[in-house]
Amino acid sequence: MKDYRIASIPGDGIGKEVISAGVEVLHALAEREGTFRLSFEAFDWGSDYYKRHGIMMPEDGLETLKPFDAIYFGAVGAPDVPDHITLWGLRLAICQPFDQYANVRPTRILPGIEGPLRNVGSKDLDWVIVRENSEGEYAGQGGRSHRGLPEEVATEVTIFTRAGVTRIMRFAFELARSRPRKLLTVVTKSNAQRHGMVMWDEIAAEVAADYPDVTWDKMLVDAMTMRMTLKPWTLDTIVATNLQADILSDLAAALAGSLGIAPTANLNPERRFPSMFEPIHGSAFDITGKGIANPIGTFWSATMMLEHLGEKAAADRLMRAIERVTADQGLHTPDLGGAATTRQVTDAVIAAILADNE
Ligand code: NAI
Ligand code: MG
Repeated sequence: MKDYRIASIPGDGIGKEVISAGVEVLHALAEREGTFRLSFEAFDWGSDYYKRHGIMMPEDGLETLKPFDAIYFGAVGAPDVPDHITLWGLRLAICQPFDQYANVRPTRILPGIEGPLRNVGSKDLDWVIVRENSEGEYAGQGGRSHRGLPEEVATEVTIFTRAGVTRIMRFAFELARSRPRKLLTVVTKSNAQRHGMVMWDEIAAEVAADYPDVTWDKMLVDAMTMRMTLKPWTLDTIVATNLQADILSDLAAALAGSLGIAPTANLNPERRFPSMFEPIHGSAFDITGKGIANPIGTFWSATMMLEHLGEKAAADRLMRAIERVTADQGLHTPDLGGAATTRQVTDAVIAAILADNE
């Protein structure tokens, strides 16, 4: 029997609450399938670790993670540690060296959920946003000089490489081709950013030549926000830079009903390193410890992890269970306007897995 080794990194705040729910659900699912095992090892890295050790994860953390089949990640961020330390010290410290360059973010309106676009035809909202996850605006290049003086300067340099843009475009065209509508929108800002974004557009056109069966178009990122809200049914697969897709995917999550539902996968498609699966939300200090965090985004991320591991039947069963639970408004957490707890949603998803006979 296959035995997958999963590193779980709950991190901070509600990350701990949703990952423990996710691990419970995955154990129940693996038992239900009976064809594979999941062995979890938990790592207590994050802001509490930082307060004890002055670093977010141990020096040899990457070496520790390397042999795992996947990483299941909660969220990082604490009110009393600067966000750039928590983000760069843990999440990006894993994504970048493990070359998880394709960040994939599906968005759909799940059964039972009323998104804010219900009056514009949002039932047809079914997108996947592909975010370039290794360079662009978050390449980490830049610096500060003359700190604190009136002549202080800071640079934040955006990096686009031909290799980096080509591989994310190929990934996006492949993904678009695998979906029924075979429709890709390439997001850009090549009117104002006339170097990197113009190269991005050129590479999109070059790669498109290899995918004659995929229909594609280009959108400026600012106009894209309007198209997402006013004509959501005209979009399917979307590819954008690191910063642009970061912003667009929060918008997408809001349009799908709640940030608490949205999943993401940070993929190293060549599988040289483990890929990482996480809800897109953060550590949500405002609701930490109340037992009301919505675990659906974490469960949906688990379906992406199972697909990546090659366990498609289990992924589908988990998605059916999730949809059965969201369809019941009595099982909505407060972010969806309900009163259910993390515990109740988790129990209901486990019950739906056990009851699923497909
Ligand atoms: P956030 O995503 O933590 O919360 C935004 C709002 O959405 C809050 O009102 C929160 O209660 C709500 N929310 C988020 N997830 C929810 C869930 N599962 N169920 C119910 N409600 C949910 O973003 P915020 O407040 O901007 O950041 C808090 C901390 O998280 C910061 O330190 C930030 O840097 C960090 N962060 C970490 C991320 C990550 O680890 N991937 C992503 C985004 C933020
Ligand atoms: Mg974000």
